[in-house]
Amino acid sequence: MDTVDPTTPNVPRMYDYLLGGKDNYAVDREAVEEVVRHAPDTPYLARENRAFLRRAVRFLAGSGIRQFVDIGSGLPTQGNVHEIAHEVAPDARVVYVDVEPVVLAHGRALLAGTPEVTVIQGDARRTDDILGDPGLNELIDFDRPVAVLMLAVLHFIGDEDDPHGIVARLRSAMAPGSYLAVSHVTADFDADRRVRDAGAVYEKATYQITLRSREQITRLFDGFDLVDPGLTTLSMWRPDPGSTIPPHADRQWCYAGVARKNGGRG
Ligand SMILES: C[S@@+](CC[C@H](N)C(=O)[O-])C[C@H]1O[C@@H](n2cnc3c(N)ncnc32)[C@H](O)[C@@H]1O
Repeated sequence: MDTVDPTTPNVPRMYDYLLGGKDNYAVDREAVEEVVRHAPDTPYLARENRAFLRRAVRFLAGSGIRQFVDIGSGLPTQGNVHEIAHEVAPDARVVYVDVEPVVLAHGRALLAGTPEVTVIQGDARRTDDILGDPGLNELIDFDRPVAVLMLAVLHFIGDEDDPHGIVARLRSAMAPGSYLAVSHVTADFDADRRVRDAGAVYEKATYQITLRSREQITRLFDGFDLVDPGLTTLSMWRPDPGSTIPPHADRQWCYAGVARKNGGRG
């Protein structure tokens, strides 16, 4: 059941507002405005994150991937994974997973009549529940290559919940030739503390932010081989041919990478 709490800033609704959406409340907008006062480039980076998602999904579909599991998918917005994947591969299957009931409610409404796509409620910290979900297993065959997308979600998982262990458990279930895509915020370029101050606003939101270093984020890909150009900032990951790289793109406070699983299970 969707228990709407209009008094606590809600992470997917805040992100919806950052992206210019309408599925948000005053409490979400006020929190985002506080974030933006600290880090004015936040809405721009949210859009760059969606642009990375688009390029990554095109790359994955172009590499032959026909199954996508998007964990921490957020509210449906423009350029959802299934829309991008279907431009390349109309038969691609997509499962959206999010811990927040509001995502399930909106996703179900949007996806009615699209049998190759579904949305399930799931908590990344409970990988066994996600992997065992009947709705997911109707569409996804883990014996075949799959792309697991974890964009802008692992920084909502604290060290106490072991994000590296979560990714390792998912990796064990993935067939060789599968891919992992991650984006994750960092304080690596935060000499003036604006990113840390913006991140602190999430103390009052449904999920808090843990900023991680390049080294910590690189370790999320243990057991995978990063595809070129490796772990970069969002805009530096395979920019569209002919596009202009924005100024300071190599110092954006969000890393991005896509990696392929080689070898066997485990
Ligand atoms: C900033 S949004 C990112 C949406 C989308 N992945 C993107 O990058 O455009 C983060 C999403 O992660 C979800 N989330 C946070 N913690 C989660 C968890 N433990 N399991 C699943 N989803 C989670 C939030 O509910 C939210 O919808």
